[in-house]
Amino acid sequence: MSGLQSLQQLPQALRRFERQHCVIDRRLEQEIWGQRFPNPIGLAAGFDKDAVAVPALAAMGFGFLEVGTVTPKPQSGNPRPRLFRHRELHSLQNAMGFNNAGMESLSRRLAQNWPPPVPVGINVGKNRQTELMSAGEDYRTLVRRLKEHASYFVINISSPNTPGLRDLQQGETVAGLLDICLEETEAPVLVKLSPDMEDDEAVALARAAVEAGAAGLILTNTTVNYSLVPEPQATGGLSGRVLRRRSFELLKAVASEVYGRCILVSVGGIESASDVYARLRAGAHLTQIYTSLIYGGSLLVRRLNEELLDLLEGDGVRNVASAVGLDV
Ligand SMILES: Cc1cc2nc3c(=O)[nH]c(=O)nc-3n(C[C@H](O)[C@H](O)[C@H](O)COP(=O)(O)O)c2cc1C
Repeated sequence: MSGLQSLQQLPQALRRFERQHCVIDRRLEQEIWGQRFPNPIGLAAGFDKDAVAVPALAAMGFGFLEVGTVTPKPQSGNPRPRLFRHRELHSLQNAMGFNNAGMESLSRRLAQNWPPPVPVGINVGKNRQTELMSAGEDYRTLVRRLKEHASYFVINISSPNTPGLRDLQQGETVAGLLDICLEETEAPVLVKLSPDMEDDEAVALARAAVEAGAAGLILTNTTVNYSLVPEPQATGGLSGRVLRRRSFELLKAVASEVYGRCILVSVGGIESASDVYARLRAGAHLTQIYTSLIYGGSLLVRRLNEELLDLLEGDGVRNVASAVGLDV
């Protein structure tokens, strides 16, 4: 992150970085919610929580960025250590707990780099101190304060690291939170779900969210299924290769119910262009990565885009938009 921030101070170096990383090709583009997404590979929430590196991350070749999770007030998150590698499994385990500089800081940062080169979604969450009963007020405050700078919002109710947060994953509760956010903004509002529920539960929740006006769903957050790793830490959610299968499964289950009625964003263990391609075919318009970027480095984004084009060509599929939903 500090390297990316330094890069932003050096316009020529930033342009060179951009030339090295960006794949510009009309076949990768989609228009969604009236906005142009230059490619379907986005940066998942939690990497640039405070939007300090938006220009550099856009120059890394992402088709869109998701900043946050941001909370109304700044908070320091959980005590360290709170981030671990399961290196041989290309996976991570994190218990960050929404460490972030708060919405005022985020708003300033986004205003500084306005308009951004690619769509920037804002992932919002409640402060740890806020009672679950009052969570809606935190979401309202966030959306009201940040709406000028959001390509879309994400209601995060699926992080395992804020006590009780996942209890908000109930149909009526989600509908209530969506109502609150939609009262405050015309921007698309999405809901990010956990992989740790039964398929039918997730499908019911997805249906409730869509009926309450969700413009999309993000599947999935990290998992607390610790049987996936031989030596789990005591707390924190798992991401990366160990999450790949479950995240894909849940996408397919949810797509079978709501595909065509909202935009699906697939995240969890994506590390190759064939992962991206399979998620698109299964009904996702967009994908996101986090853990594979940590293990693969910045040029991964370029590789995913280039190889995705090869896969499309190999199958005689005209463009990304035509790949979406082919297997649904
Ligand atoms: C260190 C770390 C911090 C994260 N922070 C957030 C967060 O603040 N909000 C959120 O919605 N997801 C957060 N996530 C989850 C990711 O956005 C993503 O859903 C998950 O890691 C699965 O994708 P991956 O397998 O490509 O990493 C975080 C993940 C990691 C590894």
